[in-house]
Amino acid sequence: MSRRNREGEVTVDIGFVACPSPGSQVHPMISKGAPATIRCLLDVCSRDQNAQPECVLTRDTGEYHIELATDVSRVNDCYDLFARHLLPTEIERKGRFKENALLDMSGKPYVPYRVFYVRGRGGEIVAAYATNTVRMRGNRGAVFLGAYAATSRQYQGVGFMRELYASALMQSVRDACSLGTTLQLALGECTEAGRRTWARLGRKEPYIRRPDGTHVAVYVVQPPLSFNLATGLPSTGATTVNERMMVDGFGSKVTKDLLIGGFGGLCDWTGRRESDEFAGDNPSASYAVYRSCFSGLERDFATRLNGGTLVLLSIDERAALEFMGVTFRDPL
Ligand SMILES: CC(C)(COP(=O)(O)OP(=O)(O)OC[C@H]1O[C@@H](n2cnc3c(N)ncnc32)[C@H](O)[C@@H]1OP(=O)(O)O)[C@@H](O)C(=O)NCCC(=O)NCCS
Repeated sequence: MSRRNREGEVTVDIGFVACPSPGSQVHPMISKGAPATIRCLLDVCSRDQNAQPECVLTRDTGEYHIELATDVSRVNDCYDLFARHLLPTEIERKGRFKENALLDMSGKPYVPYRVFYVRGRGGEIVAAYATNTVRMRGNRGAVFLGAYAATSRQYQGVGFMRELYASALMQSVRDACSLGTTLQLALGECTEAGRRTWARLGRKEPYIRRPDGTHVAVYVVQPPLSFNLATGLPSTGATTVNERMMVDGFGSKVTKDLLIGGFGGLCDWTGRRESDEFAGDNPSASYAVYRSCFSGLERDFATRLNGGTLVLLSIDERAALEFMGVTFRDPL
């Protein structure tokens, strides 16, 4: 399940697993000889032998529990933690977040938010991570989307987000199975504070290398998070936010098509309101306005990938190229 590679890093096979049969004891992390490997995910010493998504972590200061939020009170607590650490434009309303975490989404091409959290000795939530898994269009597999991540200030840097990331990915492998496909890509937007963390967890940044050698960062546009159902337009104050994008292909080549599929998955999840939810004088026109917002974002994203070759770079690889004189542009 996990092993050390030649550099001594812990590696975990995770991608392309067979779906566990109902009632099977086979852990979904067990690879079926597939090529994909995720680096540096589990600090095996701090997690029990079975490495389940929900587990106990042992630190010098005592035991901490990783759990999946399945009731309203835990989901609320996690939201409050996110809201303390993220900007209002970066996070949806609490009511919507709760719906997204607790609604039954069976039969849809996505699962609800999976909100894993670390619970301290006194029962307090000290770190949380909300993610979900969406089937990409065009038979491209499933994409893992990171939504919100936060660790309380006094617990930052002790590896809780690393552990939550591992748990969320294990869950995502299962969720991709339940959606009838396999996990192919992790995609997330990130703050400057999050950038170094995700880099340490194996994610890279996509760039378009122009014919003149200039590298242009591919940024991701977070769609508006709230809409006026009478008009189909974003609610007042709800805007798109341009953010740095980080991805992981789990050992497989990340292509432009895969990125387009991943961003399409993000838009499918964020823009999943049904036509009968719209009101106003002409609900079907409002719905058309709403849909056009997402199709426009997808078109713009695909356009940003034109004009050169897609390359994925770690922060260090970018720094090395810059040192050698390569020009980078961050159009954020
Ligand atoms: C970003 C954040 C979630 C990281 O959580 P965390 O629990 O401190 O992260 P971890 O301790 O698990 O660290 C994981 C890896 O990232 C590295 N890392 C974490 N924060 C870092 C920083 N600011 N600079 C450099 N590396 C950092 C750690 O060193 C560790 O790598 P290593 O074990 O190989 O050394 C946390 O700092 C936070 O809540 N920030 C404010 C909210 C935010 O920006 N959220 C992210 C949105 S994308």
